[in-house]
Amino acid sequence: MNLINGKEVADSLKAVIAAQVNEMTAAGCRAPHLVAILVGDDGASQTYVGHKERMCTEVGFRSTVLRFEESVTQDFLLGEIEKLNNDAEVDGFIVQLPLPGHISEQRVIEAIDPRKDVDGFHPVNTGRMISGLPSYLPATPDGILELLKYYKIETVGKNCVVIGRSNIVGRPIANLLSQKGRDCTVTVCHSRTHNLSQTVAQADIVIAAIGIAEFVTADMVKPGAVVVDVGITRVPSEKTKSGWKLLGDVKFDEVAPKCSYITPVPGGVGPMTIISLMKNTLKAAKREIYK
Ligand code: GUN
Repeated sequence: MNLINGKEVADSLKAVIAAQVNEMTAAGCRAPHLVAILVGDDGASQTYVGHKERMCTEVGFRSTVLRFEESVTQDFLLGEIEKLNNDAEVDGFIVQLPLPGHISEQRVIEAIDPRKDVDGFHPVNTGRMISGLPSYLPATPDGILELLKYYKIETVGKNCVVIGRSNIVGRPIANLLSQKGRDCTVTVCHSRTHNLSQTVAQADIVIAAIGIAEFVTADMVKPGAVVVDVGITRVPSEKTKSGWKLLGDVKFDEVAPKCSYITPVPGGVGPMTIISLMKNTLKAAKREIYK
């Protein structure tokens, strides 16, 4: 069994990004600029945005966080998005999700100029991705592809089972793995799937993205399979200072011995997602996707 080390892969890509930023600024260009909008005081969102801010600094980007009260109106937020769309000093921006219940996330996502949508959530970017056109890829699917590439894991002709059909992970990764060049035969399982265990047991590559802690057990996994665990469920723990720990969608201790490769939680897919956001921001600054 080989453990996939997301931190190691993320560090290697981070160095490549930082070197490219150095080249840009040495050539007289300004540094890429990412803006994050953070609404309310959700603890996890604050942590994620803090990590994104720090990573920006570490790769040489400029970073701005716009913080708004939980009570901010949708119209006000849409006005701020319009300002960012028109601000030539801003290459890309994200609106950290989830948003408070009185704000439509879909309305907000669709207000973002696709050229600055470095989360890759706008339907224009989703549509371009599905058509195989250049687009900003969503962070988690892109991170998974980078892990498979780094470890030279063969995808051509393989049976891949994706568990979960979310807009930000399951559906995009299923589509990307089926595209020319990756050439997987992909099955998407979800909460209404019949015979889920038997289906997963056919997979050469399992992508677990259903959001249920330790859902994938050893009996579901074919010997020698590659298992990618996207789950991050917080559960109470007496052993940690924070009082909680992260569990993946895979019952790691019993599944790992059967795998050829497996991602741990934490330290697998997680560290890759911020890097994907940095990759997209660099592309935005270089006008690589939209000229
Ligand atoms: N909330 C959890 N993950 C993400 C992400 O990748 N982007 C945004 N905007 N919000 C999130």
